[in-house]
Amino acid sequence: MRVYLNDNWTYFDGQNGEGKYVRLPHSNVQTPFNCFDESVYQFESRYENSFHAQKGKTYLLTFEGVAHRAEVYVNGSFAGSHDCGYTAFTLDVTPLVVNGENKLVVKVDSRETLNQPPFGFVIDYLTYGGIYREAYLDEYEGCYVSDVFVTAAHNRFSAQVTLADFAPCKVCWQVSLGGERVAEGSVLAQSACVDISHDVNFRLWDVNNPVVYDLAVCVGNNVYETTFGVRTARFTDKGFFLNGKKVKIVGLNRHQSYPYVGYAMPESMQRLDAQILKNKLCVNAVRTSHYPQSKYFLDECDRLGLLVFTEIPGWQHIGDDEWRKKAVQNVKDMVLQYRNHPSVVLWGVRINESQDCDELYTQTNEVAHSLDPTRQTGGVRYLQRSRLLEDVYTYNDFNRNGATDKKFVCDKRAPYLISEYNGHMFPTKSYDDFPHRRQHMLRYAKMLDDVFAADTCGAFGWCFADYNTHKDFGSGDRICYHGVTDMFRNPKMAAGVFSAMGKQPFLQLCFTSDIGDYPEGVVGDMYCLTNAEYVEVYKGGVFIKRYTHKDSPFRHLPCPPILIDDLIGNRLTEEEGISPGYAKLIKRVLADIRRYGANFLPLKSKLKILRIMAGTKMSLAQLTNLYGKYESNWGSEAGAVTVKAFVGEQVVQQTTGAAHRWTLEASPSKTVLQETSTYDVAAVSVALKDEYGNVCPYACRAVTFRTEGVIELVGQSTLPLYGGVGGTYVKTTGKKGEGTLYVNDIAIKFTVR
Ligand code: GAL
Repeated sequence: MRVYLNDNWTYFDGQNGEGKYVRLPHSNVQTPFNCFDESVYQFESRYENSFHAQKGKTYLLTFEGVAHRAEVYVNGSFAGSHDCGYTAFTLDVTPLVVNGENKLVVKVDSRETLNQPPFGFVIDYLTYGGIYREAYLDEYEGCYVSDVFVTAAHNRFSAQVTLADFAPCKVCWQVSLGGERVAEGSVLAQSACVDISHDVNFRLWDVNNPVVYDLAVCVGNNVYETTFGVRTARFTDKGFFLNGKKVKIVGLNRHQSYPYVGYAMPESMQRLDAQILKNKLCVNAVRTSHYPQSKYFLDECDRLGLLVFTEIPGWQHIGDDEWRKKAVQNVKDMVLQYRNHPSVVLWGVRINESQDCDELYTQTNEVAHSLDPTRQTGGVRYLQRSRLLEDVYTYNDFNRNGATDKKFVCDKRAPYLISEYNGHMFPTKSYDDFPHRRQHMLRYAKMLDDVFAADTCGAFGWCFADYNTHKDFGSGDRICYHGVTDMFRNPKMAAGVFSAMGKQPFLQLCFTSDIGDYPEGVVGDMYCLTNAEYVEVYKGGVFIKRYTHKDSPFRHLPCPPILIDDLIGNRLTEEEGISPGYAKLIKRVLADIRRYGANFLPLKSKLKILRIMAGTKMSLAQLTNLYGKYESNWGSEAGAVTVKAFVGEQVVQQTTGAAHRWTLEASPSKTVLQETSTYDVAAVSVALKDEYGNVCPYACRAVTFRTEGVIELVGQSTLPLYGGVGGTYVKTTGKKGEGTLYVNDIAIKFTVR
C-alpha cells in the first residue's frame, strides 16, 4: 500500500525558528523572474512531518528528488542520506518505526559547496533547493517485490523480478493494455531473483504509435506496478533505427526549471512540458540535460512517443575520488530508476562536457551496461576525437554555420549524435529585433538541414526554454536566453522550424511589414514556415504568387523555411501596363532595393535600372514611385501581406500589416485542476496581439494577476510583457471548488476537483 507524503510538511528555512506549512513539490525559496543572486537558495533547511505505521510491517520511504543532500531521521534516529539532487532514493525505515504516529525529519543541504556532482566549479544553470519532487511511503507485509526490469521482445514477455524480505512464495504477474488484460501468469520463487517469461504478441512502441503496457507483479497483497513498451532502438554509423526503421532524431535539450519556483512543479506541469515538446514543437526527442528528470516527465514521454536521452548530473567538472564514487552511484540509480521507460533510448554516462577520464568512464559504462544490456551509452563532449568508451559519439556542435563534418569529429564507424547546437552561439530574446530572430531561426534550419543530409543519428538543439543561470553565464540578469521558447514556454520565431515538421496544419510568417524594425529599412529575406503543400501570397488582398518548399534555400530538411521573394506578382503589367519583360526586370530591381537598400545597390542592379529607364522611358522618380507603391507602401492601407497555407483540405492563413488595434490574450494550459496526492498547477500564457493575431514583440505593458476562490498565484503579481508575451501559474490550495484568475480585466474561471 502506498501513502503519499506530499502534504502537511512544516518547513524551517534555517533562518527563522517559525515553521511554515508547505506541500511538496517545494522550493526552499521563491525567486524573482530574473536579477537575483544564486546565493538565495544555497542554505540548509529542515522539513518535518509524521506518518502512521504498525510494528511488524515493512516501511519504505521514497523521495523522488531533494536538492541536493538529504539526511532523513525517523523518531529522532538517523534513517539514511542521499547525495544527489536529481535521483530518487528509498530508505527502509522499518527498524525505526513505532506503532502509531512516527516523526519524520529531513535535513536538506542546498549549498553548491557540496562535494558531489554537479558541484565543484561553474555550472550553466541554477541548481535550486528543497524537497522539490514528491515523496511517499510504501507499506508491505512479508516478502515483497522491490524491483522489476522488463526486457520484453515483440513476441515474448520477459522480466527480472527482485524480491525483498525473501521467503519462498508465489509471484503472480499480469500485463494489461488500457485496462484490458493481455497476459498473466505466476511462478514459484525459490530465491530472491526470479525470471518471468511468456509468449505474448506485443504491439510495438514507436514515436507515432507509442503503446504503453501496464505490469503488476504481486506477492500476496504486496503489489509492484510499472509500465513498459516493446521496441528496439539502435544507434549506428548509418543513423538511428527504431524497430529496424530509420528515424532522424530531431530533439531539444530540456532543463527542468520554471520561473519563481525553480525545480518545484507537480505532475501536470512535468507532463505539460513533454506535451509542448511533442505536440506544439513537434520534436521526436528530448535530452534531459544535465540530469535525470521527473518520472512524470518520463512517463509522458513514454505515452507521447518522445525519445529520451537521459544523463547523470554534472557540468564540465570532475571532482575527487569521493565525488567520482557519487557519479558512479548516480549511473546506477539512473539506470535502475528509468530502465523500464521505452522512451529512454540512450544513457549519458559522462559528466556533460568533461575532459576524457578513462578510469571514471570505463566504470560508468560498465555499470550502465551491466544493469541494462539492452541500451547503448553516450557521453556528451565538446571535444573532437576524444576517447570513445561509449557506444555513441555524442557531440556538442557549436559551429556557427551548420553542422561540422563528422570526419573532423570522430571515427566514421562510430554512431554519431549531435547532443547540442546553437545555444550560446546565438542567444536570442523574444524582444530582439526581427533580423536577429530571423537569424536565430535560420541557424536552426541550417543545422537541421545538414543533419538531414548526413548519416548523423540526429541532433538536439540548445535548448527548449530559456532558463535562470549563474553569474558566469547568461545576459547578466541570470537568464540564459538560449531557448526556442521563453521561460514560460512561449515560442520564439525559431520554434517554428520544429513546429513546421508536425502534422497539425502550421503556418508562421518570419517577417513583418514594419520596415522601421530593419536596419536601413531593408526587410531582407522574407520566410514563412509551414507544413503545407503550397502557400499563396497576397498583398493588399491581391494574389501575388504561389510557393512550395522547393522555394527554400534548404534542400534536405522536411518543410524548410520558404523564401518569399516576390510581393508584386503581375501587378506591374496589370495595373501599370508595363510589358512583361520590363515588369520582370523592375521587380528584380525593387527586390534588390528591398534586399540591399537603395544606396548600396550592386553594380548589376544599377545597370538594370539604366536598361529599364532606356527601354521604358521611365524616369528615376517614376521608378522610385513604383517602389513606394509596390514595396514600401507608405501612406497606403493596402500593404498587408497575407499568406494562405494549404495543408490537405485545410487552409490556414496569417497576415502581417499595419496594426491599429491591440488586445491582451490570456490562455490557460487547462481550467480544470485536480487535488490528488498534492496540489495541481496550470500555466497561463499572456500575449498582446494585433488585429491579425500577431504577437507585438515590443509591447511595453504591465500585466497584473489576481486570484479569487480556491486557487492562488505562483510568482509575481505584476509582470511587464517582454517580447509581447508573459505568463504566470496558478495552483490549488487544498480546497475543491471554483477559482478565478484576473489578468488585468480578463477573468479565467478554474474548477478544482
Ligand atoms: C554547452 C552546455 C550547456 C549550455 C550550452 C550553452 O556547453 O553543455 O549546458 O551551457 O553550452 O550553449
